[in-house]
Amino acid sequence: MDLNLRGKRAFISGSTSGIGFATAKMLLTEGVEVYINGRSSETVIKAVNDLKTQVDGAKVFGLVADFNNPQEVEALFTQLSKVDILINNVGIYNSQSFFETPDQDWKDQYQVNFMSGVHLSQYYLPKMLQKNWGRIIFISSECAYLVPTDMISYSTTKAAMHALSRGLAQLTKGSDVTVNTIVPGSTLSEGAKDFLSNKAKLNGTTPMAVEASFFKEERTQSLLERFATVDEVSSAIIYICSSLSSATNGSVFKVDGGSSGGVL
Ligand SMILES: NC(=O)c1ccc[n+]([C@@H]2O[C@H](COP(=O)([O-])OP(=O)(O)OC[C@H]3O[C@@H](n4cnc5c(N)ncnc54)[C@H](OP(=O)(O)O)[C@@H]3O)[C@@H](O)[C@H]2O)c1
Repeated sequence: MDLNLRGKRAFISGSTSGIGFATAKMLLTEGVEVYINGRSSETVIKAVNDLKTQVDGAKVFGLVADFNNPQEVEALFTQLSKVDILINNVGIYNSQSFFETPDQDWKDQYQVNFMSGVHLSQYYLPKMLQKNWGRIIFISSECAYLVPTDMISYSTTKAAMHALSRGLAQLTKGSDVTVNTIVPGSTLSEGAKDFLSNKAKLNGTTPMAVEASFFKEERTQSLLERFATVDEVSSAIIYICSSLSSATNGSVFKVDGGSSGGVL
């Protein structure tokens, strides 16, 4: 199936690994010029080289910028003036008690998870509207719905993202620009793999056993009852990037294996 994306240009925040990296690879395969991002030149160069090796003829570039550093974000804009596709993917979280979460952790998570999308959209959305084509995609989380008690701060950043995404979609009325939110469930990114193997070592068991008990005890509504692969999430993202999704705007697209439950 041709997603009709050849020649488009995409920027994906926080994409040297995980869902962002997998999405970059799929977009490159579709002939999109992709700008990936991370905090250090080492990780960015490695990711660019890996993608060049994995996808023949990949037009891939790297931009180093820490979304917790406003000067670095400003510098990013001077290096990349226009994009057709903006994927607000960067996200950080801490698992900690609400009562012990310092203000700085709240600020960091809002700055990286939420304000990154505000700043990138303020810069790129007007240009998309001028061109009358564009895609902005926010990567939320099942936590926006589940609000695990050890991730209240993270969950609120993702819930706020839904209002931002819907509000921006309203600014696209009558155009061929769309703004949508994707809701991944637990996904086997590098971070999740580390979480499973560290917990397995700690409990003297296997990562598979940790995964099974996670779904039995913590993600009880999951219908999938396993972590999604990064490719399962990325394939939904690239559909929303494509022209095939042109009637989907201001929407929330769940790839959470049913974990958030409900009928909406
Ligand atoms: N994995 C899951 O289970 C899951 C579930 C639901 C939602 N999500 C959401 O999906 C998105 C991607 O998650 P993931 O698990 O794929 O991520 P990940 O594997 O943890 O990757 C994190 C990426 O973000 C970059 N990064 C971290 N802090 C950054 C910052 N301040 N500025 C710029 N880049 C930064 C890292 O790059 P460097 O290390 O190179 O800086 C890396 O490329 C996030 O928004 C997350 O909240 C994930």
